[in-house]
Amino acid sequence: MSRTPLRIVVGITGGIAAYKAVSVVREFVKDGHHVDIIATEAALQFVGRPTLEAISRNPVLVGLYDDVAQVRHVALGQQADVIVVAPATANTLAQFATGLAPDLLGNTVLARRGPLVVAPAMHTEMWDNPATQANISTLRSRGVVVVGPGVGQLTGSDSGPGRMSEPEEIVAAAYEAVSGEAKHDLLGKRILITGGGTREPLDPVRFIGNRSSGKQAVALAQRAMQRGAEVTLISAHLEVEPPAGISLVSVSTAAEMHSEVMTLSPDFDIVIMAAAVSDYRMDSVSGSKLKKADNGGELHLTLVENPDILKELASAKTAEQIIVGFAAETATGEDLLRLGQEKLDRKGCDYLVLNHVDWNEGFGTDRNEVKVLSSSDDRIIKVSGSKLAVADKVLDTFA
Ligand code: C5P
Repeated sequence: MSRTPLRIVVGITGGIAAYKAVSVVREFVKDGHHVDIIATEAALQFVGRPTLEAISRNPVLVGLYDDVAQVRHVALGQQADVIVVAPATANTLAQFATGLAPDLLGNTVLARRGPLVVAPAMHTEMWDNPATQANISTLRSRGVVVVGPGVGQLTGSDSGPGRMSEPEEIVAAAYEAVSGEAKHDLLGKRILITGGGTREPLDPVRFIGNRSSGKQAVALAQRAMQRGAEVTLISAHLEVEPPAGISLVSVSTAAEMHSEVMTLSPDFDIVIMAAAVSDYRMDSVSGSKLKKADNGGELHLTLVENPDILKELASAKTAEQIIVGFAAETATGEDLLRLGQEKLDRKGCDYLVLNHVDWNEGFGTDRNEVKVLSSSDDRIIKVSGSKLAVADKVLDTFA
């Protein structure tokens, strides 16, 4: 929540998500800020001028040549504390990236002095298009805050990356940008993150798995990307969609994760091993479904140990690399800290993010409470909050 009243320009461009821009404007107005809406002609095909004027309590501006005497195309940009463009279409992003200004919004963005926040919304194919990706990289490298897009149901029957982020997230990003909290401290860093739970097959149908949802790893990937890093996520089984804009490598077993981590890690500055990796796998996976009748009331499985990826990685790391491990333990209090310290020493990583897990704690939840241990000193950093907030604080430790 921002304190002093701000002058905010909300740019609305021609996408179906324009209806969600109404909620963005409403939030700003509710918080006491002055909002000028600049809509493109296309935006007004999706949402009506009366709605936007009633919500913003100001006339909606569209044309470059309306009220030229007020030199609006320069004044609005110069005066705005922040410009928020939601939704930002692929076409709009391309214009911003190349400095084109065919309309009032383009001119205002070029003439601005404050931060620019864009919330892309488009079909997955357009988002994935190398041209759009290059434009997004250009904008990020210039400090533009890119919020989302999220992954989910799109306008048609399809779903995927391209859905505009929720209004609250866009509003929060705008306030962060104004207060200078929008960090780009990971610009130029390459971060490899593992997440989710591995699955070790018993037979073609069954597996040994764990309750990791991958939410904390996905939150880390999202925040690292927003803070400017180039992120690759090696994902085992996830229960949440990874953010758009990162590279994704999907694996299933610990052995697959081992191979990907060892192959990719030399090219990364920071490796964060947030995945829940199975310590064991079947010594031989049955080629056909195991039958109950074959086993006379008992089923005996022979498991063999998986490679400890984190330990191997830490022993192979270069002096510049930072390796971060995770440890989920059911112990509490001093026992938890002792286990964490032992694990940090045994694995040889630079940091260990320690959290207490239980039937109702840690797995699948949206909140987390962790302690970050460091190999270089005795500091114990305690962090709690949403998994996104925890991700931020964890990244702060070594950013
Ligand atoms: O020993 P433990 O499984 O508690 O260690 C957890 C940390 O080690 C996590 O960072 C996890 O990703 C990593 N790990 C690993 N390879 C394994 C088991 C765990 O890299 N086989």
